[in-house]
Amino acid sequence: MRTPLVIGNWKMNGTLAEARPLASGIRDGLKRPGRVEVVVCPPFTALPAVGEILAGSPIALGAQNSHHEASGAHTGEIAPPMLVELGCRFVLCGHSERRHELGETDEQINRKVAAAIRHGLTPVLCMGETGEERRQGLTFTTVEGQLRAGLAGLDGGSLAKCVLAYEPVWAIGTGVNATPAQAAEVHGYLRGLVSEVGSKEIAQGVRILYGGSVKADNADVLLAEQEIDGALVGGASLNAPGFIAIVRKAARGAAARGDS
Ligand code: PGA
Repeated sequence: MRTPLVIGNWKMNGTLAEARPLASGIRDGLKRPGRVEVVVCPPFTALPAVGEILAGSPIALGAQNSHHEASGAHTGEIAPPMLVELGCRFVLCGHSERRHELGETDEQINRKVAAAIRHGLTPVLCMGETGEERRQGLTFTTVEGQLRAGLAGLDGGSLAKCVLAYEPVWAIGTGVNATPAQAAEVHGYLRGLVSEVGSKEIAQGVRILYGGSVKADNADVLLAEQEIDGALVGGASLNAPGFIAIVRKAARGAAARGDS
């Protein structure tokens, strides 16, 4: 029912010299990706070049962040209309590296989510607990707070346009992924919350991605879970064959689950 979605988050990687061959490799390897949606999120500086390379391909362009205002005196920031102009269709909101390194708050993230929707971008709201929070039994409390705050004030139509990503902080860039069962448990919980803040119907349609050390060799078991609608891939998205393999597994997982 839900089309799987695989997003490559290049983070602060990709000079033009690196980004161009990576984007071309992904495009050439995914001419017919199957029943899966694919997005790449290069750094801002590479968006125009990567957008040009992906033009006419089934792969969509996304940004890693945006400001909530449309323009103004915000030195160093990038506004949603600037991203739209470059062909972006998706934007990550509240990635844990921004929450933890830059102190982004739930309130700021909520404004970014709302602004993305206003400008026709699909926001990908990222949530996840730290290792310490998991040890203290605070996983559900943490993600619940992030979800409720991140989606606050959105009407049903807007909620239905969001993508959610569960990315446990302890799994990001560590090589230690959440087990399929751990991820599915949190995804199920998040879907229940969407049902509460929106409706059952919205919850059934919303895609919840898993992120945190997803690689070609663990993607199939993660993506076989009914609750996991795709992947947000960091490190492994910087290698075209590895990223392509993950996308293929997402498409096959959906076929095996009988999604149509
Ligand atoms: P990782 O990053 O795949 O390198 O763990 C995931 C993310 O931060 O989106």
